[in-house]
Amino acid sequence: MKTVKFGTTNLDVASVILGCMRINNAENPVKVIETAVDNGITFFDHADIYGGGDCERIFADALAKTEIKRDDLFIQSKCGIVPGKMFDFSKEHIVSSVEGILKRLDTDYLDALLLHRPDTLVEPEEVAAAFDQLEQQGKVKYFGVSNQKPGQIELLKKYVKQPLVANQLQFGIMHTGMIDQGIHVNMTDAGSLDHDGEILEYSRLHDMTIQAWSPYQYGFFEGVFIGHEKFPELNKVLEELAEKYHSTPTGIASAWILRHPANMQVIAGTMNIQRIEEIAQASDIQMSREDWYRVYMAAGNILP
Ligand SMILES: NC(=O)c1ccc[n+]([C@@H]2O[C@H](COP(=O)([O-])OP(=O)(O)OC[C@H]3O[C@@H](n4cnc5c(N)ncnc54)[C@H](OP(=O)(O)O)[C@@H]3O)[C@@H](O)[C@H]2O)c1
Repeated sequence: MKTVKFGTTNLDVASVILGCMRINNAENPVKVIETAVDNGITFFDHADIYGGGDCERIFADALAKTEIKRDDLFIQSKCGIVPGKMFDFSKEHIVSSVEGILKRLDTDYLDALLLHRPDTLVEPEEVAAAFDQLEQQGKVKYFGVSNQKPGQIELLKKYVKQPLVANQLQFGIMHTGMIDQGIHVNMTDAGSLDHDGEILEYSRLHDMTIQAWSPYQYGFFEGVFIGHEKFPELNKVLEELAEKYHSTPTGIASAWILRHPANMQVIAGTMNIQRIEEIAQASDIQMSREDWYRVYMAAGNILP
């Protein structure tokens, strides 16, 4: 398992994260966790809202049935969304959300807590006070954000004293916005539009780890592009590279993300034992520059 430096910390963490948003659909969550850990995936991502809290509960119950020790894992969760109602970055919400997370996960501490989606009513002093309390009480070790752009991160950093180590963003072969705008600089085509405030360059400059969510999806949860008839050219290239690198199209799709020198992590959401193994094994593939660009273009992107 390839590892990456976690933000500005000295920690080396697994480059593949198992996302637990769908663990409430897993046939055998115990086997899912054991397979992940056996293959070097020791980093697990949660959110207080996944399955309405069930995902964290199911994970904890399953983990308790294994021989795996809590301290050998890196467990991360997220808060700040009140589904269908609002975003809430108030101190009260963040602190009480973490209390609930710890209870459901049956653990004393989170390795990392991320703020799930920007709250436009954010009062960064409140976030700072919440983080200070959670850190002092030993309930959270590291802090980060999700779906935030540089200006929003800078605003938090004006008040929050802990380093913001990670930013969870949707990124994958069919979600290349943060790369496109850097390639199409000084152009007026659609690819030149900067939706995210140069978040890729910002993350690299500030050593923030990008965690790529929903890496195999296209559109907004429209489906998985691997093997999909809508993407014949891409799938042809993925098949060819799978053969070349002794992997599978799924493996190649994650190796493509990990090839980027920004040192990202991939958050895989599969609950399929074989796919977990494929994705873990593919983390060691070092794709050539030519192959990386070939995949990028096979996905329908153009180079100026
Ligand atoms: N921060 C955020 O806003 C945010 C948003 C969404 C997700 N996330 C995080 O990202 C994680 C991953 O999200 P996701 O589950 O949407 O991502 P994903 O890994 O792109 O998708 C996994 C889903 O695709 C299915 N699938 C079908 N064929 C597949 C193939 N060949 N390879 C891989 N998967 C295949 C899987 O089914 P099988 O189980 O049958 O393989 C599973 O249902 C979540 O668990 C969560 O931790 C974060």
